[in-house]
Amino acid sequence: MSAKIHELIDKRWSPRAFSDQEIEAEKIEKLFEAASFAASCFNEQPWRFIYATKDYPERYDQLLSCLVEFNQMWVKTAPMIILTLASTKFAQNQKENHHARHDLGLAIGNMSAQATGMGLYMHQMAGFSAEKAREIFEIPDEFDIVTMIAVGYLGDPMQLPENIRGLESHKRNRRSLDKVLFDGDWDDMK
Ligand SMILES: Cc1cc2nc3c(=O)[nH]c(=O)nc-3n(C[C@H](O)[C@H](O)[C@H](O)COP(=O)(O)O)c2cc1C
Repeated sequence: MSAKIHELIDKRWSPRAFSDQEIEAEKIEKLFEAASFAASCFNEQPWRFIYATKDYPERYDQLLSCLVEFNQMWVKTAPMIILTLASTKFAQNQKENHHARHDLGLAIGNMSAQATGMGLYMHQMAGFSAEKAREIFEIPDEFDIVTMIAVGYLGDPMQLPENIRGLESHKRNRRSLDKVLFDGDWDDMK
């Protein structure tokens, strides 16, 4: 039995069936605003984003083309795609910021909560070519290319190819807390 958690966390999940309903411009702004209020090491705010809605078809298609085929198959109905980056050097002294990806993750956590609160869904992805993204957008080496995210309103699972439709109703599976909280035995943590 798990404890009741906040509904902004409880309601979030990662769908693949996205409706083609556009996202209102003010909601898009709020997503990035929420991200920008995350905590970060030395308040460095290392998160950077490249995004496109279908109003910018050239950039949207460039982003879509970076995804592996499996992800392209379902992302293509999502009204918005984001590429997330982390600036790996501290602005003040150019030293390596070892927590840049951590802080980007915090920003995405904020963005997810904001999205849920506005009735939107996000699906984060590692299945894409960072090399291709670097080339297309001429991303300098000092930026780590970390994830891509599909964003939008929930769609109808029936719009998905049959082989992945069932994933929409999968039971959400989580490690129990005794396998996360260290209690003297590392075997329990594996
Ligand atoms: C960094 C990251 C990479 C992921 N990569 C993919 C991906 O390439 N394709 C995909 O379909 N889902 C991907 N996912 C979604 C996860 O499979 C999903 O978050 C996980 O199964 C938990 O489900 P939930 O988000 O619905 O709670 C990714 C999630 C994260 C956070």
